[in-house]
Amino acid sequence: MGRDIVSLDDLTVNNIGVFKKINSVTLPTSYSEQWYKDSLNTDQIVKLAYYSELPVGAIKAKTINSAHKISTYENMQQQQINAKIVPNAVYVESFAVLEAYRGLGIGERLLKFLEEETKKKFIHEIVFHVHIDNTAAVEWYEKHGFAKSEEVLKDYYKDQGLSNPDAFILSKSI
Ligand SMILES: CC(C)(COP(=O)(O)OP(=O)(O)OC[C@H]1O[C@@H](n2cnc3c(N)ncnc32)[C@H](O)[C@@H]1OP(=O)(O)O)[C@@H](O)C(=O)NCCC(=O)NCCS
Repeated sequence: MGRDIVSLDDLTVNNIGVFKKINSVTLPTSYSEQWYKDSLNTDQIVKLAYYSELPVGAIKAKTINSAHKISTYENMQQQQINAKIVPNAVYVESFAVLEAYRGLGIGERLLKFLEEETKKKFIHEIVFHVHIDNTAAVEWYEKHGFAKSEEVLKDYYKDQGLSNPDAFILSKSI
């Protein structure tokens, strides 16, 4: 049987530079050194995607309790769930595929991994924020079973230097 051209692999100290590069060339938002350092912790849901051995995509998510209201992107990045609090959702922090490799099923592979990991944790909801102008991503998520909230999160990205700082909340029950 031939090898699958798309494969997933763990994040390690050796490939964390690639993770940073994929995010920085794909996403308009920035992530702190501490955020990348935390990515190596075992409680994080994180994977790199490879296309024919080339690292071209990545996803990172964490467990949250959705009752905790978050007002800004930076607060959301820093928030770590207290061990005593029961998580009820998985929050996607970064999700990116290099432009030249989109439409090849890599995003779907990463989403499938995320859904499996979420189920393993007995959690039934996946949530994230998308920049209000990122119509292509919103359409992609809607096509993959996510629903967009009616309300818009005002000023969510205000310290990220984006021209329109509002965000949509997207969620999927699994
Ligand atoms: C969103 C993203 C991760 C999707 O990854 P991808 O590897 O291109 O997605 P896939 O190739 O797995 O998608 C395949 C399916 O989605 C469809 N699709 C692709 N782009 C789409 C779009 N803009 N709207 C709707 N459907 C779309 C394809 O037609 C395909 O469907 P099919 O199998 O029925 O033909 C990628 O586009 C990306 O990195 N975007 C920029 C970063 C970003 O916006 N991230 C999300 C914000 S956190």
